[in-house]
Amino acid sequence: MGSRVLIENLPRGNFCTLLLVLWVCAVTASVTYDHKAIVVNGQRRILISGSIHYPRSTPEMWPDLIQKAKDGGLDVIQTYVFWNGHEPSPGKYYFEDRYDLVKFIKLVQQAGLYVHLRIGPYICAEWNFGGFPVWLKYVPGIAFRTDNEPFKAAMQKFTEKIVSIMKEEKLFQTQGGPIIMSQIENEYGPVEWEIGAPGKAYTKWFSQMAVGLDTGVPWIMCKQQDTPDPLIDTCNGYYCENFTPNKKYKPKMWTENWTGWYTEFGGAVPRRPAEDMAFSVARFVQNGGSFVNYYMYHGGTNFDRTSSGLFIATSYDYDGPIDEYGLLNEPKWGHLRDLHKAIKLCEPALVSVDPTVTWPGNNLEVHVFKTSGACAAFLANYDTKSSASVKFGNGQYDLPPWSISILPDCKTAVFNTARLGAQSSLMKMTAVNSAFDWQSYNEEPASSNEDDSLTAYALWEQINVTRDSTDYLWYMTDVNIDANEGFIKNGQSPVLTVMSAGHVLHVLINDQLSGTVYGGLDSHKLTFSDSVKLRVGNNKISLLSIAVGLPNVGPHFETWNAGVLGPVTLKGLNEGTRDLSKQKWSYKIGLKGEALNLNTVSGSSSVEWVQGSLLAKQQPLAWYKTTFSTPAGNDPLALDMISMGKGQAWINGRSIGRHWPGYIARGNCGDCYYAGTYTDKKCRTNCGEPSQRWYHIPRSWLNPSGNYLVVFEEWGGDPTGITLVKRTTASVCADIYQGQPTLKNRQMLDSGKVVRPKAHLWCPPGKNISQIKFASYGLPQGTCGNFREGSCHAHKSYDAPQKNCIGKQSCLVTVAPEVFGGDPCPGIAKKLSLEALCG
Ligand code: GAL
Repeated sequence: MGSRVLIENLPRGNFCTLLLVLWVCAVTASVTYDHKAIVVNGQRRILISGSIHYPRSTPEMWPDLIQKAKDGGLDVIQTYVFWNGHEPSPGKYYFEDRYDLVKFIKLVQQAGLYVHLRIGPYICAEWNFGGFPVWLKYVPGIAFRTDNEPFKAAMQKFTEKIVSIMKEEKLFQTQGGPIIMSQIENEYGPVEWEIGAPGKAYTKWFSQMAVGLDTGVPWIMCKQQDTPDPLIDTCNGYYCENFTPNKKYKPKMWTENWTGWYTEFGGAVPRRPAEDMAFSVARFVQNGGSFVNYYMYHGGTNFDRTSSGLFIATSYDYDGPIDEYGLLNEPKWGHLRDLHKAIKLCEPALVSVDPTVTWPGNNLEVHVFKTSGACAAFLANYDTKSSASVKFGNGQYDLPPWSISILPDCKTAVFNTARLGAQSSLMKMTAVNSAFDWQSYNEEPASSNEDDSLTAYALWEQINVTRDSTDYLWYMTDVNIDANEGFIKNGQSPVLTVMSAGHVLHVLINDQLSGTVYGGLDSHKLTFSDSVKLRVGNNKISLLSIAVGLPNVGPHFETWNAGVLGPVTLKGLNEGTRDLSKQKWSYKIGLKGEALNLNTVSGSSSVEWVQGSLLAKQQPLAWYKTTFSTPAGNDPLALDMISMGKGQAWINGRSIGRHWPGYIARGNCGDCYYAGTYTDKKCRTNCGEPSQRWYHIPRSWLNPSGNYLVVFEEWGGDPTGITLVKRTTASVCADIYQGQPTLKNRQMLDSGKVVRPKAHLWCPPGKNISQIKFASYGLPQGTCGNFREGSCHAHKSYDAPQKNCIGKQSCLVTVAPEVFGGDPCPGIAKKLSLEALCG
C-alpha cells in the first residue's frame, strides 16, 4: 500500500526514473544458472573460489586474508557456518569475535568479492561434532541427519536463523549483498545411500525447506547425485573433470578442490604440489567446469577445543595457498594466481561454447572453445613421465609430463600448469624468546569425597557426563586388599585392565601415575593392561579419561562413545579376577585447575605456584605460567612446544588449542614428484617428527607487555624448552625454463616484442633481498633450499641477479644467454634457478 501511494504521488519524470531503477535492479541483482555456468546479473561467469573459515582465524586477520585471496585471483570466498559456535546452548546465540559471521561477510563484500555460504548445518570440516552443538545429541528422541522430527526441527530453526540474519543485513546478492550461493547439508549422498528410505525422505524435506527460505540465490548440495531441482549437485575431490551434474541444465561445479589435507596428531603432514593443483583446475575447466573452490584457501587454526576426533591437529594449515599464519604459501599461491589470470583471459570463449576435443596422440588431448569473436585452447599431456610436443594451428607446443598449456587466443601459450612462473618461499621459525620465567602448580588428582562428585554403580559414557564442557573426566573407585592376598607375599603384582572407548587414559594408583595409553588414528579405542602396585587396605584407583574432540563424520557419528566403558578388571588376586566395572565409581568433571580458571590472571592467584629449583619438570598433570612482552614487528608468532607432551595452552585467557607434540608422525613420507594422480598419502612431510610442533598465537591477542601464558601439561614436559618464535621468509627462489609459457607472452606478442621469460623475486613488505644464495643458468638441479649446479652452468650466473636484486624488495632477471655472458651449452634447453635471502 505504502509504495503504491508513493508511486502515485511521484511527478511523471521521477516515476520513469523509478521504473528504470527498478528495472535495472531486477536485471543487475540476480543469480541464476544454466548448463554452462552460474549467471550473475545476466552474465555467465567462470568463478574461482576459496574456502576461508572465519573462526579459524581472528577478525583482525580477516581483511588481510581476504585481500590476499583477491590478489590471488579469487572471485568468491566460501565458508561453512559453524552451528556449535553460534548456538552454544539452545536458543542462546553467539555472533561475536571469531564468530562474527556478518562482519566477515561484509569484509568480503568490501573487498569486492562474492560469498558462497555453506550453511549445512552439518559441515563435517574436521570441526568438533561436524558443527553440531553437543546439546543436540541430548534432545529426546533425536537421530542426526535422517528423517527424524526433533532433528529436522532443530536444523530448520538454525537454518532459518542464519538466513534471516543474512536477509536482515541485506547480504544476499538480490538484496545488493555478496552472497551468490548457499549450501544445504554436506556430502549427504553416501549417507542416504547407506540408510535408504529415511535418507531419501530427509533429502526431500531439507531441499524443500531450503528452497522455501526464498534466499533469491541458488542452493547447492555437494556429493549427492539425486539432488532435486532446482538445487545444483556439485563435486568434491582432488579431481573433478569427469563429474557431470545430474541435469543437463545445471552447471558443472567443484565445491571442494582439496589443496592438501588435514593433519592428525600422530599422522604426517600432507602437501599437494602446486603443479598438480593447477593441472586439476585446468583439466576441470577445459572439460566445461565453471566454478572451482579451493578447500582450503586459508586453512587456519583450530583454536579452543574446536578440532574434531579422530585426533585432528590444532593446525588446520591444509597446505592452502595462504598458510596457517596468513602468509603466502609459495609457489602455490603465485602459481594459482597465474593460472587464474590465464583462465580469466579465456572466460569469454569458455562461457560461450562447448569445446571441440581432439586427440593428437597418445595421452594428448586438445580442447578448443571457438566462437565468432573468441578462441581459447587447452593443450593437455596426461603422460606422467614423458614430455610431448604438440602441433596445434601454426604452432608447436612443448608440454611437460602431466601438464596443460593454456592459449587464450588459440595461438599463444601463456601458462603451463607444470612450469612455475611464481617464486617459491622457504619459511623459517626463529626464536624470539626462550627465557621464560616459569612457575608451576601440580594439578591434584581428584578425590571421591568432594561434594560435587557424582557416584554410580556403573561406568558412565564420558560425553554424557561432561557434555563436552572439558576434555577431562575422572573415574574413581576403591579396591580393598586383604592382608592374606597371595601377591603380597610372592611379590607378583595384580594386573589392572581397563577398556576405554577413548581417547587418552591416565591410570593413577593411590594418586601415583601408573601408566598412560592413547588411541590410534584408525581407532579411538584403547586398553590399559599392566601390573599395578597395591597395598594392604584401601587403594584408590583413579582413571583420568581425556577426550580429544568429538567425531565429525561417519555413520551415526553422534552415537560414538568416549570414556571408560569397561570392563575394568583386576587379575591375580586370591579370588582370581575381580570385575570392578559394577562396583561404586565416583566421577569428577574436569580438572581442579579448570574450575579455578588458572588460565586467567585472576584465577591463578587462588593457588600457590612454585619456581626455580622447585619447578615441576617431566611431571604429569602440571600447570605452568609465565608472562612475556610482545616482540616488535608484524611477523606471525607461535609457541615451539617441542619439549612438551600433550595438553592445552592459553594466552591472556584465550585458548590457542590443544598441543600434542609428543605424538610423533608415523609412516613413510616418501618422495614427491608432482606428476601422477595425487592422494593424501603422497608428498607428506614430518615423518618421525611431531605431527605438530608449532602453535599459532594471534598477534591481536597480545598486549605490548605482561602477556599471561598458561600451559597445562598432561604427560610431563620441560617448560624451559618452550620458545616463542616468529615466522619469516628464509629465502625466495625462482626456477624458470627458458622457453616456458609466461603470462607476459600475450601482451609482448601483441606489441611485436621478442618473448623471454623472466624470473621474478620479491621479499615480503619491509624486507629487501640481501644476498643471492644460489644462481645457475644452465641445467641446475634440486629445489628451493637445495639447488646445485648441473652439468651445464654459466659462469656469470650470479652477475645479473646480484646487480638487479640486492637491496631491492623485488627484481626481475631475464632468462636468456646474453644476460649470463653467453650460452653455456648451445642447443640444450636451459633454465635459471635462483635462491635469494630476504633481510
Ligand atoms: C569433505 C568434507 C569437508 C572436509 C573434507 C576433508 O568430504 O565435505 O567438510 O571434511 O572432506 O577435509
